[in-house]
Amino acid sequence: MMDKILVIGCAGQIGSELTLELRKIYGDANVVATDIKPAEKEITEGGPFEILDVLDTHRLFGTVSRNKITQIYHLAAILSGNAEKKPIASWHINMESLLNVLELSRELTLSKVFWPSSIAVFGPTTPRIKTPQFTVMEPNTVYGISKLAGERWLEYYFHKYGVDGRSLRYPGLISYKTEAGGGTTDYAVEIFYEAIRNKKYDCFLSENTYLPMQFMDDAIKATIGVMEAPAEKISVRSSYNVAGISFSPKELTNEIKKNIPDFKVDYFTDFRQAIADSWPKSIDDNVARQDWGLKNSYDIKRLTEIMLREVGKKFS
Ligand code: NAD
Ligand code: SER
Repeated sequence: MMDKILVIGCAGQIGSELTLELRKIYGDANVVATDIKPAEKEITEGGPFEILDVLDTHRLFGTVSRNKITQIYHLAAILSGNAEKKPIASWHINMESLLNVLELSRELTLSKVFWPSSIAVFGPTTPRIKTPQFTVMEPNTVYGISKLAGERWLEYYFHKYGVDGRSLRYPGLISYKTEAGGGTTDYAVEIFYEAIRNKKYDCFLSENTYLPMQFMDDAIKATIGVMEAPAEKISVRSSYNVAGISFSPKELTNEIKKNIPDFKVDYFTDFRQAIADSWPKSIDDNVARQDWGLKNSYDIKRLTEIMLREVGKKFS
């Protein structure tokens, strides 16, 4: 029987690309895209689309039952920067939505669930270079606390009820299709828009702040890779480290300058600097590589060229 997939949060930075890729694999009619807000035409007209608030348990059950859904990709969340502005509301959205999805998966015996975690699960006491899969985890942001709690719930539902949940600790994701959704790594997306529009960017992180990043194509490939891996290959039932590449605002600026020589960046750090300083500078993702073959293809040079070309098209 062909799987039927529900994407929750299809209008966001990841959902807007993952939904299209899933439709290529499973067929347009077999991927039901949902979000609390309208999505791009490509998604709403390319296959089934519904407005859905993942916190509305009754409607969520209705959508899953009516469409005979077998797998869920749950992407709705409040990201690190925005979550610090509304801690309690963000905790509520991030946690209740996951528990809704896990409960539903248990009750309706869905085959698989994908829910992303983040490098935000680590904190100031974690080793920051080549952060291992298993290490000290004491996050100090509401987003990081919610992601760590989510990982524990995912593992709990697997061991207690057999819910086959899979997860990646995404680093900062870089893409051009949809703008980033309020995170600490967003500078690495915004910088391309400002380089094209104004040849000038005011960066909210300091020039030597190293963070792990990944180009969206690699993130989508990894997401589908972990979901399609045979269950016996999944040794980590919380969430897998995913490294991508690490760079600083200064290094990214220098790469952009190779294409736009008079591009200028000024640095005005804000509350997101403290968040970035509590996160890893680089990640060890060997467990994901060994278990199910994680592989990244994009380096800083290649992603910069693609970002400048594709963001450039939006303003030409
Ligand atoms: P985003 O903010 O761009 O998209 C989230 C989507 O969820 C939005 O379209 C939003 O409208 C929707 N949403 C919010 N509340 C909802 C609700 N109550 N019901 C239904 N939909 C709702 O976020 P993203 O960057 O696409 O991230 C997706 C997931 O990946 C999140 O769990 C995020 O924590 C995780 N993640 C993202 C990154 C990154 O760099 N983008 C890194 C690590 C982890
Ligand atoms: N990109 C995300 C954020 O900055 C990491 O989870 O919030």
